[in-house]
Amino acid sequence: MATTSNPHRVDEVRRELDRLNSEARTADQLMKGITLLLHQKMLKYNWVGFYMLEPGADPPMLVLGHYQGAMTPHTRIPLNQGICGAAASSGKTVVVDDVTSDSRYLACSLETKSEIVVPVFVRGLVAGELDIDSHFPAAFAAEDRELVEYCAQLTGKRLEGA
Ligand code: SME
Repeated sequence: MATTSNPHRVDEVRRELDRLNSEARTADQLMKGITLLLHQKMLKYNWVGFYMLEPGADPPMLVLGHYQGAMTPHTRIPLNQGICGAAASSGKTVVVDDVTSDSRYLACSLETKSEIVVPVFVRGLVAGELDIDSHFPAAFAAEDRELVEYCAQLTGKRLEGA
């Protein structure tokens, strides 16, 4: 059972996201701001980053974009690897409460216990994803999922206008 994030904190972060979205001049600024905000304000979000599909790559490849947290060895991830590859290839949010029990998991840090990956859609197609790791097991409850999916939606809409 996932532990619930403070609902007041989630509401506050949503308001800050809306402000960020209205102030960011580009999709790139928005994505950078989202990683900073989530990493700073959501205390269990220990690594927050975007992976975006490399334009024209064959086979398709996820490439690390803006991120906050420790450096990761996984800067390029094919779609048949990792939780990241699973989310991008299925177009579905993946929540893993215990990364040690998921054979797809690619380790970034020994401290990571749980992970959420949410696809970013642009005009109905997966363009990338928002990936969050936590040092706490089962850190991502329903309201976390909603919050991260909201971030992914804002990003997708902004990329559609880019
Ligand atoms: N754990 C991810 C790899 C990326 S790191 O979490 C930053 C995965 O299994 O795809």
